[in-house]
Amino acid sequence: MGYPHPSHPRETPILSKYFGDAEARTLEGWRARGGYEALQKALFTDPQELQTIVKDSGLRGRGGAGFPTGMKWSFMKPDGKTHYLCCNADESEPGTFKDREIMRWTPHGLVEGVALAAHAIYAQTAYIYIRGEFTEPYARVTAAVEEAYAAGILGANAMGSGKQVDVHVHRGAGAYICGEETALMNSLEGRRGNPRIKPPFPAVAGLFGKPTTINNVETLTTVPYIIKNGAEWYKQFGRPDNPKSIGTKLFSVCGNITRPGNYEVALGFPFKDFLYDLCGGPLPGREIKAVIPGGSSVPILTREEAEGAIMDYEGMVAAGTMLGSGGAIVFDDRQCMVRQIARLTRFYAHESCAQCSQCREGTAWITRIMERIRDGEGTAEDLDTLVSIADGMSGKTICVLSDSCATPVMSGLKKFRHEFEAKIAANPAMVTVPGALRAS
Ligand code: NAI
Repeated sequence: MGYPHPSHPRETPILSKYFGDAEARTLEGWRARGGYEALQKALFTDPQELQTIVKDSGLRGRGGAGFPTGMKWSFMKPDGKTHYLCCNADESEPGTFKDREIMRWTPHGLVEGVALAAHAIYAQTAYIYIRGEFTEPYARVTAAVEEAYAAGILGANAMGSGKQVDVHVHRGAGAYICGEETALMNSLEGRRGNPRIKPPFPAVAGLFGKPTTINNVETLTTVPYIIKNGAEWYKQFGRPDNPKSIGTKLFSVCGNITRPGNYEVALGFPFKDFLYDLCGGPLPGREIKAVIPGGSSVPILTREEAEGAIMDYEGMVAAGTMLGSGGAIVFDDRQCMVRQIARLTRFYAHESCAQCSQCREGTAWITRIMERIRDGEGTAEDLDTLVSIADGMSGKTICVLSDSCATPVMSGLKKFRHEFEAKIAANPAMVTVPGALRAS
């Protein structure tokens, strides 16, 4: 069955060009579409040169943090040590489902990117750490790896280059925290998926203590296009006046929107056009109230703020949020923001690894307070308590899960405080006791 992609003429389909094209999933089909030409070229090119091309291209990490990919690769030197590449395919951020589509439709594109990157960072072994719930993507990627081995693309003499490139697919067990890069490495090593303190960064001491590069699925799948067509080709996409806004990016959209799904646009695209033109705007008779534009871990935007935002790293910061993973969650005028934020905090409380007390206690307390406000049992003091707990959770833990829980609470309180106050005012039992956590 056909899958309409691109679904809008204003998209720039590079990664998504073959979404919905079932023949592109097989090795034969991928090769017929130019697949593995970049890897063939790369395996006969000096890794240093590949690092320079990717650096010049301006590609940044598409998992959420936006770290320059070429710079990350350049930390890996020909030092004679064992190096590892990890592909982070543990996509679990609420509202984010772009890597899943890459793996479902173009698994060989990912395998090619992984093999290419392994060679570029002087690694012989790569791991694809895939989210446990991703049943179909796991099957597709595993089949692609098997086909690539059978064809001599992977293995001891990859594509006749004399280079060893091995790729292992490892399935997670459903923990959000294992998408955090250091927890991912612990999980791969067979340990509990707790994040590690950074520094040392993985580039210095990563998987099994060895220098390691960790890149997201979308980042790695982009690389073969850059190696094949050159850095200058890639630079034509994005904002010409802003070197931090280069290339295309896949954006996932869900919630109260007419056409949810994945869209690939050049960075620098106006968010208003994206929401109303590509995604069809709100449902009939409704209005957009708020948008979380980059997965649930970034500040919430009001409709006005969202309509003025530009879809790139700096544009989203200028609007008061972050580009993050590019997963937009849209809320219309029917939604209670207290209820929506309480859902998010419960998610983070459930997913906390409980290693840091600020996160373990903070996510749990914030959730209890959010839920009682939601249920009409909150007090005026609760709002100050929320701010105080959220403040104690930000920038004080090993990883950013704690911050990610505090962020929607803080931005929600700032932008939709009236909804919190209305819930509290509606509490029939409300008695304001200074310093007390709740009314009785
Ligand atoms: P980060 O900014 O700490 O690191 C980004 C990358 O750059 C890492 O690979 C890190 O090792 C590397 N790096 C940073 N500074 C370095 C240095 N001085 N030397 C060497 N390497 C360095 O961000 P983090 O914690 O890896 O990712 C956070 C982001 O992940 C959030 O912004 C969020 O948007 C996103 N996220 C995405 C999810 C998804 O499902 N796609 C899930 C949860 C969060």
